[in-house]
Amino acid sequence: MGEKLAKCSNQDWLDNVYDKILAKMKAECIRVGSNIPYTTDKDGKYQDIEQTQWGIGFWTNGFWPGMLWQMYKATGDDVYKNTAQDVEKRLEVLLKNPETIDHDAGFLFLLSAVADYRLTNDKEARRRGLLAASLLASRYNLDGKFIRAWPDAMGEMNMISNDNDKRKGDIRGVMIIDCMMNIPLLYWASDETGDPRFKKIAISHAKTAQQYITRPDGSCNHIVVFDPETGEYLNNPGGQGYEQGSSWSRGQSWAVYGFALSYRHTGDSSFLDTAKRVAHYCIANMAVCDWLPLVDYRQPDNPLKYDSTAAAITACGLLEIAEYVGELEKRIYIQSAYKILRACDEKFCNWDSEADSIVNGGTFFYHDPTGENTEVPIIYGDYYFIEAVLRLKDKSAFLW
Ligand code: GLY
Repeated sequence: MGEKLAKCSNQDWLDNVYDKILAKMKAECIRVGSNIPYTTDKDGKYQDIEQTQWGIGFWTNGFWPGMLWQMYKATGDDVYKNTAQDVEKRLEVLLKNPETIDHDAGFLFLLSAVADYRLTNDKEARRRGLLAASLLASRYNLDGKFIRAWPDAMGEMNMISNDNDKRKGDIRGVMIIDCMMNIPLLYWASDETGDPRFKKIAISHAKTAQQYITRPDGSCNHIVVFDPETGEYLNNPGGQGYEQGSSWSRGQSWAVYGFALSYRHTGDSSFLDTAKRVAHYCIANMAVCDWLPLVDYRQPDNPLKYDSTAAAITACGLLEIAEYVGELEKRIYIQSAYKILRACDEKFCNWDSEADSIVNGGTFFYHDPTGENTEVPIIYGDYYFIEAVLRLKDKSAFLW
């Protein structure tokens, strides 16, 4: 951020960054089209997800169409709608292969098919959304009262904190905080069909997450393992953060936004209280770190690693909470969101229209042996940054 913008009012900063989003997204939409980006390659360019190790089922593949739908809502420009619909058709293949779908069905289909239906009333898009919701609901474990995370293949992946924290237990018994952002697909399905089953599964999962994932001080576990046969609680191993018992910042941000959304969809004030408790913890941690989230709020001072995606997601969550509190209470949420977004813009944003991606500095998980997933552009950082700015401009589409 230049000296002038660093000192300007929030409104001036907002107007300026909105104009930059308009310019960058128009150029990017034309350049990227219906390719699905995740991160940039060593030359700083997006590749289509099917040219990478991640593939068409990767959990982030809804964020590009989500960005396009946000831009369509803000501008009315058909190029965004047409491109988003082309991506949505590419994702259809997942619905024909249910084993490729896990708890991330919400990220994939709320931001593609359901967004399309909400904004255009397209009946095929509604069908895709309802099918995705049924697949998500089918992952509910009746005894443990949670939606199972991750596919079987993940059981062999070693994306854990350190050697003492090997993910313990059976992959079939795992729930994770991230799923709080996926259950809005179930709330939508109940609203759409009038059938309460989807919503009841979402509420039951959210209550279990309140009990086993959030801690009294506002920090969160990433993972909980239950016995998949009996539903008995087993343990909380470490996850994508620093270690067991630490505080992975993106997980914290999923909790802030996810519990606020469960409040929106249910009116259960305990969900709003949980969202606020986690939000206050995140605000306190960012306030002592120049308003930037470390990858883990309990990581060592060295090496200093940030995760800009946690910043953007937290900002959206704070703006969601601000919608439900009284006038005199809004300030802490809205002003903190501005602080976080402006710090993120200053340190991590690239507004060159010729360059792929906006927000750099995204980190997938703390213990990244190659460093290839540390402080890099990640598509959901861009999605949530854009959503937050459009929310503040009163131009966003509600997609959750
Ligand atoms: N949902 C996976 C992540 O946040 O990294």
